[in-house]
Amino acid sequence: MGTRDDHDDDIDTDDDYDDDQELEFEDEESAKTEKWKEHYSSRQRILFVGEGDFSFSLSLAKAFGSAHNLVATSLDSYDNIGKKYSNGLNNVMELEERGCLVLHGVDAKEMSQHFFLKTQRFDRIVYNFPHVGFLYPENSHCQIQLNKRLLKGFLANAKALVKKGGEIHVTHKEGDPYNKWDLVKKAEKIGLALQQVVPFFKDNYPGYDNKRAHGKLSDASFLVGEASTYKFKLQTSNICNN
Ligand SMILES: C[S@@+](CC[C@H](N)C(=O)[O-])C[C@H]1O[C@@H](n2cnc3c(N)ncnc32)[C@H](O)[C@@H]1O
Repeated sequence: MGTRDDHDDDIDTDDDYDDDQELEFEDEESAKTEKWKEHYSSRQRILFVGEGDFSFSLSLAKAFGSAHNLVATSLDSYDNIGKKYSNGLNNVMELEERGCLVLHGVDAKEMSQHFFLKTQRFDRIVYNFPHVGFLYPENSHCQIQLNKRLLKGFLANAKALVKKGGEIHVTHKEGDPYNKWDLVKKAEKIGLALQQVVPFFKDNYPGYDNKRAHGKLSDASFLVGEASTYKFKLQTSNICNN
């Protein structure tokens, strides 16, 4: 398996050159026209948090024809992306070729202190299916507490990185035990206001492969079932601080 350094040392072939030219042309075209995919626009600066195999950010990059406005992050290291996911490294490579900045080892609970992210502000910050991994049974108190802590940390850090007027999106499964995570209550306590809740359909994002991301079945999908995207904004009283 390739390391990050092997990957950086790849030598361009003629085919790569043609592909690069094609992507550059796509970029120029898409810079002229704004493209929308569901809630997301090619003009928005978007931060993706807790990516699995990076197929969600890549799906948007393909829809936009460019990824220059995108920053995609994982908690996993680059090497772990290769070990855990069959398409992970290819997806990262394609994102980077399209102009996306890909960062690894980014902890959602501390990301506002990240050396690069702390210098940036985003129109959209997106975390699909936050989950700490299957450490205890899904319904157990310990597991719920850990997931609540992750949500709280993410929301507090996203609040520091979102632009005035921007939105923080959490896509979350509905029903028990997920409704015990108190997503909306946590967000409101932190100073975020719920704007909208919209049903989430995986098929709206071609190529997106939601991942369990933990243990021997890291590369397997989980059943999305009934899920929603929760959109939060800064409460108006917080806007002057941003
Ligand atoms: C259920 S998976 C979903 C993965 C991906 N978002 C998707 O939709 O396929 C949960 C993700 O949260 C990530 N994660 C867990 N704790 C995290 C943390 N503290 N900071 C950032 N990501 C975290 C895991 O690495 C994993 O990728």
